[in-house]
Amino acid sequence: PAVPTLFSPLHLRGLTLTNRFAVSPMCMDSADDGHLTDFHLVSLGGWAMRGVALTIVEATAVLANGRIVPEDSGLWKDSQIAPLKRVVDFIHSQGQKAGIQLGHAGRKASILSSQVERHPGMQTEVATPEQGGWPENVWAPSAIPYSATYATPKEMTLEDIAEVIQAFADASARAVQAGFDTIEIHAAHGYLLSESLSPITNRRIDTYGGSFENRTRLLREVIAAVRAVIPEQMPLLVRISATEWMEWTAKESWDVPQSLRLAKMLPDLGVDLLDVSTGGNNKDQKIVIHPYYQVDIAGQIREAVRAESGGKKMLIGAVGLVTTAEMARSIVQQSDKEGVYGVRDDGTLAAAAADLEGTVEVETEHGQKTRADLVLVGRQFLRDPNFVLRTAHELGVDVQWPRQFRRGKFS
Ligand code: FNR
Repeated sequence: PAVPTLFSPLHLRGLTLTNRFAVSPMCMDSADDGHLTDFHLVSLGGWAMRGVALTIVEATAVLANGRIVPEDSGLWKDSQIAPLKRVVDFIHSQGQKAGIQLGHAGRKASILSSQVERHPGMQTEVATPEQGGWPENVWAPSAIPYSATYATPKEMTLEDIAEVIQAFADASARAVQAGFDTIEIHAAHGYLLSESLSPITNRRIDTYGGSFENRTRLLREVIAAVRAVIPEQMPLLVRISATEWMEWTAKESWDVPQSLRLAKMLPDLGVDLLDVSTGGNNKDQKIVIHPYYQVDIAGQIREAVRAESGGKKMLIGAVGLVTTAEMARSIVQQSDKEGVYGVRDDGTLAAAAADLEGTVEVETEHGQKTRADLVLVGRQFLRDPNFVLRTAHELGVDVQWPRQFRRGKFS
């Protein structure tokens, strides 16, 4: 039977993924001075062991003041390479690939870890120096705090901006040393690069603020600096918030049309996959949620990029609320001919067209349109680390199990 697209390999430059599943980067608030710990090895390794093609390490700070919480992963010094390499080596031992998300938290830095209990009426989220924080050294494009409970950032000087760009390059070189197969630049969710894109959070009057050209400059310079230090064959990923969900205000904000404009520029800068997320830049964002609310925006960007990428192909990653086999399948389904299957009369899924004979094929509203090339999954992997193996089982696809599990494959 035809293998559904979801379980077919994906090629990105010199990298081949065994399927279309990636672990979306997720902060575990468990690093020690930026160094990954056993918790990371077990959680990240566990996903790779259970069939995820690409496991992306959480947002990793390129400078110490670019951590969100003091316990975030970092790659601003050489001693942080070895614990990352340990995770990468394990992922490779499972026949899968490892990525790392590099970022700077901007004005959302120096807050308390999710593991610190919040009390009703708590005045601040800020991690003080006694708590390992650096509220006096929080950087942003403009000196506007995220909210009254966050630190007020310092407007970056041109020297600070140059330092950030260099730090992305240096951290990328370290990521290559750690053995990573790919790097994702974090330009989403209201962290530094995302703040820079938005006219709400970027009020600069120099060459890094104002026009679309100027607001995208920092991201474009970071991409160029990273691309320059990583191997030619290594794919580069970028995550953006395609909209900051502020259309409801009269203010000019970062929105989907600007994301489309940016997306079309990225293939020429050497970006191989755009990971489409949304939101996170404003406390008063208003998100219209439905199961495909974010995935559909990815699809919109994919269509535009494919129509107009000057022959250079950039793939698209979709993320958000993917919790079922059917939804994952529908996101990357290439056509109704390839990897066809539908729902049998009894409600179960058929893995091949042949299996559908004599059955009613139910086309879900979202069933036939390709929205993305890679499916990034966050919370469902927290709930169910076996989501890939379970999905394969549901779709009738025979996937690789860890060697150590093979005695379970007796039937
Ligand atoms: C996240 N998310 C996130 N995103 C990101 O780009 N970098 C990060 O480090 C984190 N950290 C993080 C931690 C935790 C615990 C969660 C739940 C989420 C967002 C995540 O990658 C994903 O985009 C969203 O969770 C939406 O996808 P799901 O969870 O609906 O599949």
